[in-house]
Amino acid sequence: MLIDHFHNLNKVRSPYSDELKSILNLLDSREAFDEISTWDGYKPTPLVSLKDIALQTGVKKIYYKDESSRFGLGSFKALGGTYGVLKFIQDELKKDIGSNVTLEDIHKGKFKEKISRFTVTTATDGNHGRSVAYGAKLFGCKCQIYIHAEVSLGRQDAIEQLDANVIRVNGNYDESLKLCKKESELNNWHIISDTSYPGYTKYPRDIMAGYNVMSEEIASQLEKIEMPTHIFLQGGVGSFPGAICAYFWEKFPNSNIKFIVVESEHAPCLIQSAQNNQMTSVNIKKETMMAGLSCGEPSLLGWEILSIGTDDFVAISDQLIPSTMRMLANNNPPIEAGESSVAGLAALMEIMKTQDIAKKLKLDSESIVLLFGTEGATDPEIYDSIIKAS
Ligand SMILES: Cc1ncc(COP(=O)(O)O)c(C=O)c1O
Repeated sequence: MLIDHFHNLNKVRSPYSDELKSILNLLDSREAFDEISTWDGYKPTPLVSLKDIALQTGVKKIYYKDESSRFGLGSFKALGGTYGVLKFIQDELKKDIGSNVTLEDIHKGKFKEKISRFTVTTATDGNHGRSVAYGAKLFGCKCQIYIHAEVSLGRQDAIEQLDANVIRVNGNYDESLKLCKKESELNNWHIISDTSYPGYTKYPRDIMAGYNVMSEEIASQLEKIEMPTHIFLQGGVGSFPGAICAYFWEKFPNSNIKFIVVESEHAPCLIQSAQNNQMTSVNIKKETMMAGLSCGEPSLLGWEILSIGTDDFVAISDQLIPSTMRMLANNNPPIEAGESSVAGLAALMEIMKTQDIAKKLKLDSESIVLLFGTEGATDPEIYDSIIKAS
């Protein structure tokens, strides 16, 4: 069921502005791609055409960017937090040694001893923390990860396997963030957060640029396929949808792509911000099963892009998720899609059943839809229990 829907009256059709470029631009994204694509284990993820599902849904084509294999971490988040850790290490070394610290020197292990004294930290629902822990392990610093009471044991275990120390807080995400901030001040640890707020934008910006490795890959994959008319983007804090929207808006100024942001009914901070025409936080009363989307506070940078770039915001019911995951698991070829991964497809199918919204968005049998399968089975036990139930 579609729980809420808001057509964005602020949507601006003009070219991507200089002001927005100062938040995130194609050069930032290219720089991130040039770096990340050199890492061990890098491989572009597939862009899969969901032919049967497109036919069933009533659109011309659906392309699904399948992130389940990204760097063996199971989600696109591997691109952001890891890159944020590397940029942080470079900045710290520059402060200490001088401006000519290159990423190549860091890779070669030239500053190994100094790096081993840094500690990075973040509060997380799972995927971002795993990415920061991966970055810490890859580049040789220490890592403390804060999780809240509802984060699954499987997600905790995945972070611990990367040698990070995990601190479970007896409260919600906001409380885990509060403790993370307090303890990092006391211990001189460094927060690498995927969400931005006034006074903290540097690493969230790098992280967003890292996410656009997906967009860079899609831009080359698109040479072989058709340009999407609609892009569905699931939102937590809004860094991911903001990054992708920024990229496609700047790179393809004449394409008139429609961007649709999808949230859970239990964490609708972006749709509420759009409705209030200003950044608005919501109190999370119930955790959504889409753990990666369980965020009550929008990211400043993400919101600045989405507030004028998004055509439509929707909030969907959690009830749609299990059947959509099973639909992808039974697809030919089968796709491993975790809970947060299927929000876009679930929203598309619901919109197509609601003709007035589909019409407003010009979603019809000529539409080419791009979806982001942002995670695979990031908690295998939960994933299996959903797929096996019917
Ligand atoms: C799998 C998955 N998809 C989507 C998102 C949403 O990204 P953002 O919080 O940047 O909006 C997240 C965030 O953690 C996620 O883990």
